[in-house]
Formats: sequence, structure tokens, C-alpha cells
Amino acid sequence: MRTLIKGGRVITAVDDYIADVLIDGETIVAIAHDIQVEADKTIDATGQYVLPGGIDPHVHLRMPFAGTETIDDFTSGTAAATRGGTTTVIDFPLQPRGHGLKETLDKWHGLLANDEPMIDVGFHMIVTDLSDNKLKEVAALVDQGVTSFKLFMAYKNSLMADDETIFEAMCAAGENGMLTMMHAENGGIIDVLVRRALAEGKTGPKYHETTRPAKAEAEAVHSALAMADIAEAPVYIVHLSAEESLQHVANARQAGQQAYAETCPQYLFFDNSVYDLPDFEAAKYVFTPPARAKHHQDSLWRGIAADDLAVVSTDHCPFCFADQKRMGIDNFSKIPNGGPGIESRLQLVHDGGVRTGRITLNRMVDILSTTPAKLFGLFPRKGTIAVGSDADIVIFDPQRKETLTVATQVSKVDYCAYEGREVSGSPTVVLSRGEVVCENGIVVGKAGRGRFIKRAQHLGMLPGTPVTNSIRIS
Ligand code: URP
Ligand code: ZN
Ligand code: ZN
Repeated sequence: MRTLIKGGRVITAVDDYIADVLIDGETIVAIAHDIQVEADKTIDATGQYVLPGGIDPHVHLRMPFAGTETIDDFTSGTAAATRGGTTTVIDFPLQPRGHGLKETLDKWHGLLANDEPMIDVGFHMIVTDLSDNKLKEVAALVDQGVTSFKLFMAYKNSLMADDETIFEAMCAAGENGMLTMMHAENGGIIDVLVRRALAEGKTGPKYHETTRPAKAEAEAVHSALAMADIAEAPVYIVHLSAEESLQHVANARQAGQQAYAETCPQYLFFDNSVYDLPDFEAAKYVFTPPARAKHHQDSLWRGIAADDLAVVSTDHCPFCFADQKRMGIDNFSKIPNGGPGIESRLQLVHDGGVRTGRITLNRMVDILSTTPAKLFGLFPRKGTIAVGSDADIVIFDPQRKETLTVATQVSKVDYCAYEGREVSGSPTVVLSRGEVVCENGIVVGKAGRGRFIKRAQHLGMLPGTPVTNSIRIS
């Protein structure tokens, strides 16, 4: 099957030009001015952007958490992703304490196969416990294309790893060409603040914010950076929300450390006034870290522009308001932490970042596709528009307005965090490996066509870092 995309404005992390793009099967085979071939399908992209498919390296589908599970499975979650111009997601198998890494990975492969994803899916491994020689399993993970860990410095007695485990994991990651992702919040401080708040009768969702201060995040970011420096291993701070934390990352990068960080749309678009919403509505914004005071948003946008923030992921972690969020109606600490976002990332970043002049179109592509591909071992198969790359392509109409609403959402979650927000710019056609999976907001891809994607080892990205690994095509 040959598809020809005619006359669009091709935008990569570095280029911006008008050309035709020819796809044969799953792959881009030619990019040139005015390609004249017989194609099975021709898409007129005149006046639209032709972007590499989004890579969302931080989603939680079927994640067990706080006695429940995120409402999107790999079917609904990946279908929802296509609507937002995302063609690859990376999810997180979660090692239950006492269980092996390989055993955990096998279990998640079972879930993925059962759910039939619509787009390509990779895995990071959440590590909770490295006792009993579990480190020996690390090389096998890399062989299976799982080349990153996530560890938690918060959620005591469930996900939180101690410093010894974090340091061991970072050392093993460094030795095996992996990247360690850190959930950086000081869990001890947060636990004390939560206990005190509850003892004072402060049980509503607004206290989620007051018990997770920005300084508790910044302290943990600083600590994670120091541990990674000692381990001589690269580190990636997830869902960074606060300007103090960003300053630590910027300092580390300036000192030459392989330190990276992501933020998420919820920190760029919401401030802590959401916690004043009445009638338990604030529970919709109980994600971790919480939304911060307004001034942090400008710092985060500046951090994106300056490359101290390398990626905008979604941390899509959807729990229904009607039943799951209500588990914490009498006690905010029992509200499952997380919010939806998998299908609005591109539109939000375009509308709030590019249209306002905060970032360029090239930078938008970089943070949503190219850099995640490079950091997480997918480049150049994914993350760019180039001959030989997978034909994961988004045709995006920058003028097309849409109002974000639960009524048109594909995710199974029962609310839209951005309800009623109008954005300018929408994907019109989304292709995953050459197949149209979403057209004019309607998901048309087949469940089960997505594949598990084995990722190569981490490619260092600071200037002068030797590139020692190449992508493996599975
Ligand atoms: O609130 C969040 N972020 N929940 C998901 C788990 C995590 O920390 O990423
Ligand atoms: Zn986290
Ligand atoms: Zn997360």
C-alpha cells in the first residue's frame, strides 16, 4: 500500500519546509518536492503541518494504584492517544515488592497482548525492590527492549524505594545503558504533613496540595541528581512541576551532568486555584505532584524553551470521578492520584506554547516526539520524518479549532480536566506505520495492530557524549 501526502509543511525538530511524503507499507520512502507516482491513497496536506507522530513516554494504562486500577486499558488508552496525535506510548510494568523483574515484565506482556493496542507500546520497569539478587535480571530486561527504570521517592509503604535501592538501580542502569526515571518528592515529609492534616480534620481534596509542597519536590530532585551523579548514570526527572526543581536540573545540566526532566500539560495549564473548586470537584486535579501556584507556569515554559525541560509527557493516569476518585471522599489521601491527558497533549502545547510564541514549532516537535525518541531508544525509527523511518505521521491543521470536552473524548474516563477549553489547531489525519488510525477526530484504527516495541539503549544527548548504541529493529 502506497500513500502520498501532498504539499504539507514538513516540520521536524530542526527543519521546516514544504514537500510531499511518500509512504510504502509502514515506512517513509521518499520526501521531495512534487513526487509523481501512482499511490493507493493521496492525502492533500496543503496548508497543514506534517509532523512526526507524538511519543508519550509517560502513561499509565491498567496501572494498579491505591486499591484500584487506571480506567484505560491498552485498547482504550492507545485509541485515545491516536486522537491526540500520539503514535507511540511507553507504559510502566510495576514490580510488586518481593517479585522478580522478568516475572513482572512477563505479566505486562500478557496484559498488552490481551488488550490489543492500536499503536506501538514500549515499557519502562517500575522498580520497588532489588533484594535477593534481582539486579541479575537487569541485563535480560535490556535484551527484551526495556531500557529504562522508574523509581519512586514518595508513596511510603507502597511504591517508595529506599536510597539504597535507588542508588543500586541507578548504578545498574548506568552500567547497562539504561535511563533511570525518578518520581522525585520527599515521601517522608509528605507522610508527616498528610498525617498532621488528617489529625486536624483537614480531609478534603484541597489538602492534597498543601501536603505536597514544591520544596519537598525540589529537595528530592536535588537528591536524585546527586545520587545519579555519584552513580555516574543518566537520570530523568518525571513530572517536574516547580521552578525550584527546575533550577536544580538546570544547574546539573550546566555542570555537565546527563540530567533530563519532563513536565506535563497539567503543570503548564492549571494552577493551585483548582483545589478551591467546590463539591469534591478538586479531586479531578488530585495528581502528583499537585498543580502549583501560577508563577511556576512561566518558569516551566521558559525551561522548555531553554531545553532544561526536555520533554512534555502526559502522565496519563485516569481514574473515574464517579466512583474511583470518590474512594477518598472522606480522606484526601485515599483519592487515587492521577489525571487524564493522553489525547490533548499536542493541541494544548500547540495552543498554549506555539501560538503564544513561547516555543517554536520545531521545539514543539522536539519535546513531543524527537527528544523522547532519542532518550528512550526509538530514534531514528521514530521521532522524525525521514526516509527509512516508520510512517508515524500527524497531519495537523493549525487553524482548526476544537473545544476539549468529555463528550468527544475517547478515553474511558468520565471527565475532561480541560472541559470547555477551546484550542486552535487539531490533528486531521494520524498515521501509525502507514495506516490511518484517526481521521478528523474519529478513531478508525484496528485494535490489535499496535506492537510491543523493543527499545535500544539510552543515547546520551549532551554535546560531546559518545553515541555508542544504535536502534534495533524488532
Ligand atoms: O498522580 C500521578 N502522577 N499518578 C501516577 C503515578 C505517578 O506518580 O506517576
Ligand atoms: Zn510519578
Ligand atoms: Zn506517572
